[in-house]
Amino acid sequence: MADDLEQLLRDARERIQGASLRAALEEARVAILGRNAELTQRLRGIAQLPADQRGAIGKRLNEVRLQIEAAIAEREQQVAARELAEQLERDRIDVTLPGAVVPRGGLHVLTQTRRQIEDIFIGLGYQIAEGPEIELEYNNFTALNIPDGHPAKGETDTLWIAPGVCLRTHTSPVQARTLRAQEPPIYVIVPGRVYRRDTPDATHSPIFHQVEGLVVDRGITLADLKGTLAYFARSLFGADRETRFRTSFFPFTEPSVEVDVSCFLCAGDGCGVCKQSGWIEILGAGQVDPNVLAMVGLDTDEWQGFAFGMGIERIAFLKHGFPDLRLLYDNDLRFLEQFPA
Ligand code: DAH
Repeated sequence: MADDLEQLLRDARERIQGASLRAALEEARVAILGRNAELTQRLRGIAQLPADQRGAIGKRLNEVRLQIEAAIAEREQQVAARELAEQLERDRIDVTLPGAVVPRGGLHVLTQTRRQIEDIFIGLGYQIAEGPEIELEYNNFTALNIPDGHPAKGETDTLWIAPGVCLRTHTSPVQARTLRAQEPPIYVIVPGRVYRRDTPDATHSPIFHQVEGLVVDRGITLADLKGTLAYFARSLFGADRETRFRTSFFPFTEPSVEVDVSCFLCAGDGCGVCKQSGWIEILGAGQVDPNVLAMVGLDTDEWQGFAFGMGIERIAFLKHGFPDLRLLYDNDLRFLEQFPA
């Protein structure tokens, strides 16, 4: 009987020790201590034993049960610790692996160019002014000294919305709006979208963008315009750039000029970009025609001004040398990602 019990204890220990998973250990516990287990049967049988044996056998059986319970508890801890260690090993994160790259958007190259232009003039103390894209014929033409019958007013160029109302063909109408809204001195630049009846091709778009500049102050001369635009061209295209003024005509400026910058590719020697001339036209400008100032009631003996206007697409085109304007509007990431911002 006693040997029997020792054997039972040894077997139980062996089985407990052999269980390496929690589920196997639970099975062992049921087999050794469960309702039908031999030990349980024996414990139940104590009552039937002769009275003189009951005490000793009962005591020994209970000791064996306690030893088994202790062995199970100990093994449980070992198994749990091992399972945890294995799980930690499985779930280990290699912090040295490269992370997943989250794609980040950027500013469109046109927006970048607009901001560069704005920043240069903001640095000179200019303020930004804006106006509506649907504009009165009066502001788009009449207030700018563009008389009826001027070719720019014709059906071919202007998109009319209603009699007397059009999509603005340039940002210049904001000159008229600003002159009415503000007392001089005025130093503003006007970025904005403009519309013309043009068929899209490599160099034309019916919708494009301009930046207008307007200065009205006392004692303004063409020299101020020249100095301002030379500074602008150097800031935008590089410190070595030269500027050149060519006489031109705009109804709202007198005299009018077109401004060329020395070619930033060939430095004036002649190349494909500057069409072998060494110069690239970047904008139109001039002294504000006294008629424009007089129309808003300014005393032209006291106040003079200059104005300029440039196409943002054209500037971006020149800076980066795109083959086709339409690339700017296609939203093809393979193109846009070449201009990270
Ligand atoms: N508004 C003219 C255009 O769209 C550009 C321009 C030329 C604006 C001369 C000016 C200027 O302010 O003085 O072609």
